[in-house]
Amino acid sequence: MAIRFDGRVAIVTGSGVGLGRSHALGLAARGAKVVINDLGVSTDGQGQSSDAALSVVEEIRAVGGEAIAHGADVSNEEQVADMVAKTMAEWGRIDILVNNAGILRDKTFSKITLDDFRKVVDVHLMGSANCCHAVWPIMREQKYGRIVLTSSASGLYGNFGQSNYGAAKAAMMGLMNVLHLEGSRDDIRVNTLAPTAATRMTENLMPPEALDLLAPETITPGLLYLVSEDGPSRTILCAGAGCFAQTKVYETEGILLEGADNTPEAVAAKFDQVGASEGQRELTDAFAQTRKYARKAADAMGLKLPWGES
Ligand SMILES: NC(=O)c1ccc[n+]([C@@H]2O[C@H](COP(=O)([O-])OP(=O)(O)OC[C@H]3O[C@@H](n4cnc5c(N)ncnc54)[C@H](O)[C@@H]3O)[C@@H](O)[C@H]2O)c1
Repeated sequence: MAIRFDGRVAIVTGSGVGLGRSHALGLAARGAKVVINDLGVSTDGQGQSSDAALSVVEEIRAVGGEAIAHGADVSNEEQVADMVAKTMAEWGRIDILVNNAGILRDKTFSKITLDDFRKVVDVHLMGSANCCHAVWPIMREQKYGRIVLTSSASGLYGNFGQSNYGAAKAAMMGLMNVLHLEGSRDDIRVNTLAPTAATRMTENLMPPEALDLLAPETITPGLLYLVSEDGPSRTILCAGAGCFAQTKVYETEGILLEGADNTPEAVAAKFDQVGASEGQRELTDAFAQTRKYARKAADAMGLKLPWGES
């Protein structure tokens, strides 16, 4: 079955250029009405312009699609509220939110100022939280919503010189996990995309031969699946150059140290076993971990706990 978005309304933040533009064009090509949000800033968040957003709106309208532009700064709660209000006034619903807007202010941790740290966290983390918070009551009321947060290999695995960006991008996983739990009863599905693409943000870091391979358009099909009606929830989809993979967080089975045996020396002696991958599994909420540990300790003592398997 073809994936279509007819009758759906989508907001894509930072969609004047790069990945956001590609996602917005992909959604519009499959029938969505799209809000092209872009503040029109440089890669490090300076300046402001509506040119890029307006040109994507034109591109969509030129082929018969529906789009409007909005220049909200995603880190500004009032401007985001205005974008959501205008979208509701225009189209009466919001089905899809793609949190994509982003900037970089790279510096090693010894050189970074806290202003540059805060600015990056404000745009990526607070920007995503602002947009999710503004559409949340609408999606709950509709009993339908698809949200994507944009992370990065920098957040999942680390990248030298990106403590601010890495921290903000890792936070996407935490936000996703909780919004997934809180949204599922109203069919709000929340996923994270971790792209790697040649855009103005990254093209200087890549060999010229790789630029075409890593075009944003190679990633958008994955994004479209994530926000589709039958899309998943709580997944981290990694994508680039037509490759798709998932990042998963597993917890090892671990060990139990009881009573007087629970010493730092025993932890050190068994540290390989603590990290052994045999028996590792995904835990799907925080209390799954509490139950796991309490059950292990209780089992060793022959106690029964009123908790089922998790
Ligand atoms: N390009 C990559 O390889 C890569 C890798 C991992 C993650 N990402 C993430 O993907 C997203 C898109 O990146 P890109 O490479 O297309 O970057 P880009 O610089 O090409 O586009 C980012 C867009 O966001 C807009 N923007 C920035 N701050 C904004 C704000 N406060 N409010 C509204 N719009 C704002 C910019 O004006 C720009 O149009 C970002 O979140 C980025 O961190 C990109």
